[in-house]
Amino acid sequence: MTYEGWPIYSEAQIQLIASAADILSRLFGYLTPHILPGVSTAELDQMAEEFVRREGAEPAFKGYKPPFEEAPYPYTLCVSIDEEVVHGLPSPHRYLQSGQIVTIDCGVRLEGFHADMAYTFSVGTVSPQARKLLQVAKEALYRGLLYARAGAHMGDIGHAIFSYVKSYNFAVSEQLTGHGVGEAIHMPPDVPNVGKPSKGVRLPENLVIAIEPMVQMGSRRILRGADGWSVRTKDGQLAAHFEHTVVVRRHGPQVLTSFEPIMKALAHV
Ligand code: MF3
Ligand code: CO
Repeated sequence: MTYEGWPIYSEAQIQLIASAADILSRLFGYLTPHILPGVSTAELDQMAEEFVRREGAEPAFKGYKPPFEEAPYPYTLCVSIDEEVVHGLPSPHRYLQSGQIVTIDCGVRLEGFHADMAYTFSVGTVSPQARKLLQVAKEALYRGLLYARAGAHMGDIGHAIFSYVKSYNFAVSEQLTGHGVGEAIHMPPDVPNVGKPSKGVRLPENLVIAIEPMVQMGSRRILRGADGWSVRTKDGQLAAHFEHTVVVRRHGPQVLTSFEPIMKALAHV
């Protein structure tokens, strides 16, 4: 089935996405206690790849060539530190340091179906401003998720995200959006982080999307990093990113990726 040219999956197919999402959620729980000062970002990547393969799934970013990129992405995780917004490359020479914020972004494929999730962690002790940014970015995701409901408009999601972010004088780039998820990690439709209430296409029941606000503390301008992959804030200020894979259901969102129960037991996240 399709709607506006977007695939709408059967319950059996959605169940595969949910199974991929379950592996991904447990991966975040597995990595969380390792997100400490002194760990290299390549070590986290290696742990992630081993975990995903042990679960009988595949890392979805590895080998994926996003549109407008020349080469396939070479790692399991994107690890974006401080002013990096997305697509930070794991490196054996980059060690996490106390005071940093670090986004772990990962996609998992299971029997041809995908799930996508990102979470920004604090490393050791971070500044009060950084803590505020994390709280606002996470709540922006939750406010957007509330509109993953059949009959809501796409603009409702972006409006919920942007109006909340703006009330703190933080910013989002219009160039970076969420997306459909299913047989590919990135599928139509785009899910913008800005929008007008009651505008845009109405969301159909059973559409699976990744909602992912990327929130910047200063200006919304972004730049490509020197490594050719990372995207960072132009002004060098911090950015945070939270993402869940969610099914649009008749009465509200069914969030497939989540590790909140694990996180509640951990003081530093
Ligand atoms: N960060 C993207 C997302 O969450 C996916 C990464 S694309 C890759 O939608 F090329 F880095 F794999
Ligand atoms: Co995504």
